[in-house]
Amino acid sequence: MRKLLIAANWKMYKTPTESTAFLTSFFPLVKNIETAEIVLCPAMTSLTALVDAARGKSVCVGAQTMHWLNEGAYTGETSPTMLTAIGATHVLIGHSERRQYFNETDTTVNLKLKSALAHGLVPIVCVGEHLNEREQNLTADVLNLQVSVALEGIDAAALAPLVIAYEPVWAIGTGRTATPEIAEDAHKIIRTKIASIAGSDVANATRILYGGSVKPDNARSLCCLDDIDGALVGGASLEPTSFSQIIANAT
Ligand code: G3P
Repeated sequence: MRKLLIAANWKMYKTPTESTAFLTSFFPLVKNIETAEIVLCPAMTSLTALVDAARGKSVCVGAQTMHWLNEGAYTGETSPTMLTAIGATHVLIGHSERRQYFNETDTTVNLKLKSALAHGLVPIVCVGEHLNEREQNLTADVLNLQVSVALEGIDAAALAPLVIAYEPVWAIGTGRTATPEIAEDAHKIIRTKIASIAGSDVANATRILYGGSVKPDNARSLCCLDDIDGALVGGASLEPTSFSQIIANAT
């Protein structure tokens, strides 16, 4: 049985003080926190403060991206060793906004996935199609290519921690959530591709999250489906009330 994973992607919001203040309000609101794996992904500048504030609680802290190398002349970048050194346990890789604005490619996603696994970080690899690709019936082609390149050259045994987030780009920040049927179909495509690459055991163990306008009123209808193992939440995770309601409704 795959444990539900509910992750918050705070993107470029919240100072360290605002990040820790979120936890102060959040913890009293969450009733069944043990039933799911809760991960908060703040901006880099808030990682240390949030790790310290979440210590001993049932909440993990992750980064929104990382470089695949441990050090070097890469201005502005953060290495996996820097993330593990401050207590981050998860890392988002290949978010569509990183692909759109910061030259993330399927190839760099693969390099980062290998590096995250090698450093013991739980990788949440983001995949998803654009609206024009869906309208041209290219969704399966896009997802199969993104998953194939992401997993290239990685032994099946090393993929045990893998998490995939299916985030249709047309649903991110738009309020236009994918229907449960659309999401379930996409998750099946992803899980089938993982099985063809790494075998059915890895595919069945891989948690596949849905992301893209997840809200309290749609969390249950999405997370109750067999192939949907949780959610990656943007805007609705910024407020303790809505994020705790998403967790309650999803679990
Ligand atoms: O990574 C999650 C994010 O892209 C989804 O954003 O605001 O549509 O929940 P949002």
